Amino acid sequence: MKNYKVALLAGDGIGPEVMKEAVKVLKLVEERNADVAFELNDVLFGAAAYFETGKAFPEATKQACDEADAILKGTIGLSHEESKKIPVDEQPERGALLPLRRRYNTYANFRPVYLPKGVAHFSPLKAEVIGEGLDIMIIRELVGGLYFGEKETGVDENGKRFVREVLEYDEDQIRQIITVAFEVSQKRKKVLHNIHKSNVLKSSVLWNEIVEEVAKDFPDVEVKNILVDAAATYLCLNPAQFDVMVMENMFGDILSDQGGGILGSLGLMPSACKGPEKSYYEPSHGSAPDIAGKGIANPYSMIGSVALMLEMSFGMEQEAKNLWNAMQSVFAAGYSTPDLSKDGEAELITTAKFGDLVCEALAKMPVA
Ligand code: NAD
Ligand code: IPM
Ligand code: MN
Repeated sequence: MKNYKVALLAGDGIGPEVMKEAVKVLKLVEERNADVAFELNDVLFGAAAYFETGKAFPEATKQACDEADAILKGTIGLSHEESKKIPVDEQPERGALLPLRRRYNTYANFRPVYLPKGVAHFSPLKAEVIGEGLDIMIIRELVGGLYFGEKETGVDENGKRFVREVLEYDEDQIRQIITVAFEVSQKRKKVLHNIHKSNVLKSSVLWNEIVEEVAKDFPDVEVKNILVDAAATYLCLNPAQFDVMVMENMFGDILSDQGGGILGSLGLMPSACKGPEKSYYEPSHGSAPDIAGKGIANPYSMIGSVALMLEMSFGMEQEAKNLWNAMQSVFAAGYSTPDLSKDGEAELITTAKFGDLVCEALAKMPVA
């Protein structure tokens, strides 16, 4: 019997709504797999935690995460206006999410941009641009760069306010994420797009040097170097050319949301954040204050994050595949949440109904 402890960090906004569907799925997976048990530990995180305890990442949550085999996170964050109610350093992004990433050194962030041909109509891009469908893996460095560099705000000798934020990497940090990207490329199409900005940033000059060094250990992988601004254009004009893309933290934040745009919604963007000892899983999107509480959030990113957890933390590859297929079958049957159906063709369903239909489909699939 395998017992897995999973810390559940539902968070804010639509976080608890989509987490509920993830829990439904996990319970079904447990039911289907007699040799697997999940111990789920629901804990406070984000603004919800701040308002309850005065801390966005309270000690009890840290302890639950330390004890867990994997962490499943919903979404954190408040609307622009609501955020002002919390001191800057306790706001859920700085006070909870970045400390979570740092605590477990989750340096490798996998953000699949996946759109099978059957659901290509969800994309705002023309069918001929999508071609046979999209299957891109964005690999984003997650614990370095501008996000974690030194920060200073102050007033200079002329009385003017200033700010300074440092984009910092050392060669080991770069080497470890680049190595992951080559390893993933080797198992896929053996083409790695290295996204950089070496015409301006010294950090990219070092980054590219390391790409060349690591490339020597992966002679079967072709490297294509693209400046980040151009990459943003190619993602719109010809996304199907990409297989694995690797980039630093900030570039990855922006281009992965662009990935969501190309798919048709951030609701289709699960992610895995892998550390040396512990990994956590979360949708790439935020707390969506504009639709929170309406029961219409798309839980695909959250349930997809469960699939990534099953595969990457618990070695349950077949069950993960079943789950992807179950989610796709819901779309294939003509259902979608309102974020996706701009053409009015799909039957619109709620967050809970999507979760139920995924479970219905999964329940019919043979267990490996
Ligand atoms: P957002 O990702 O929350 O929303 C952007 C747009 O996408 C909105 O129109 C929203 O309705 C839509 N959307 C996102 N997820 C959806 C889903 N599952 N189903 C349907 N529609 C969905 O980005 P934002 O509005 O810029 O940020 C809101 C808050 O979320 C901010 O406080 C931000 O800091 C935070 N945030 C948190 C995370 C995280 O928890 N990892 C990630 C990104 C943003
Ligand atoms: C993401 C989010 C976070 C990031 C924010 C909420 C700190 O946008 O996970 O993409 O910028 O990394
Ligand atoms: Mn983001």
